[in-house]
Amino acid sequence: MRKFTGEELSQDEVLTLLKAALMSPTSKRSNCWQFIVVDDKETLEKLSYCKESGAAFVKDAALAIVVTADPLASDVWIEDASIASIMIQLQAEDLGLGSCWVQVRERFTANGLSANEYIHELLDIPLQLQVLSLIAVGHKGMERKPFDESHLQWEKVHINKYGGK
Ligand SMILES: Cc1cc2nc3c(=O)[nH]c(=O)nc-3n(C[C@H](O)[C@H](O)[C@H](O)COP(=O)(O)O)c2cc1C
Repeated sequence: MRKFTGEELSQDEVLTLLKAALMSPTSKRSNCWQFIVVDDKETLEKLSYCKESGAAFVKDAALAIVVTADPLASDVWIEDASIASIMIQLQAEDLGLGSCWVQVRERFTANGLSANEYIHELLDIPLQLQVLSLIAVGHKGMERKPFDESHLQWEKVHINKYGGK
C-alpha cells in the first residue's frame, strides 16, 4: 500500500506493530536489530527523500519504522532484519492497516549519497548499525484487489528434483 489517509495510528496499533518486530525470529537469537519509530511529519517528509525513487509516499504515512541491524552482532543481519520487516508488514495487514517496504540498503539519494548514510545523519543512528529498510504504515487510502491466483508461477516450484513435476 502506497496511498494512506491522514488518520493517525492508535497507541495500541503502534505497540502491536513493535511487538511483532521484537518477537520476530533471529539466527541464534542474536536480536541484532534495532527499530526507529518515526511519526514526526517533518522527519517523515525528509525520509521520503532517502532515495531517488520509490520512497515519495513515505511523507504521507502515519508512521515509518526504520529497520536497522548490527552486522558485527550477526553475520546474517540482512536475513534477521528482513524477517523483522516482513513481520511488521504482516502485523499491519492483520490490523487492517496498509504498509510498504522501502528498500534502503544499496540504494542512493538523488544526489548520490547512500540512503543508509542519509538516514544515519537524519536520525542520529550509531555507526555500527546498518539501515536495511523502512516500513511505511498507515490507514489504507485505496482498495486493492486480492492477489490474482491465476498469476501464481507454479513453474517455479519443483517436486523432489529441479524440473520435477
Ligand atoms: C526487498 C523489497 C524491497 C522493496 N522496496 C520497495 C521500495 O523501495 N519502494 C516501493 O515502493 N516498494 C518496494 N517494495 C514493494 C514491492 O515493490 C512490492 O512488494 C511488489 O511490487 C509487489 O507488489 P504487489 O504487492 O502490489 O504485488 C519492496 C519489496 C521488497 C520485498
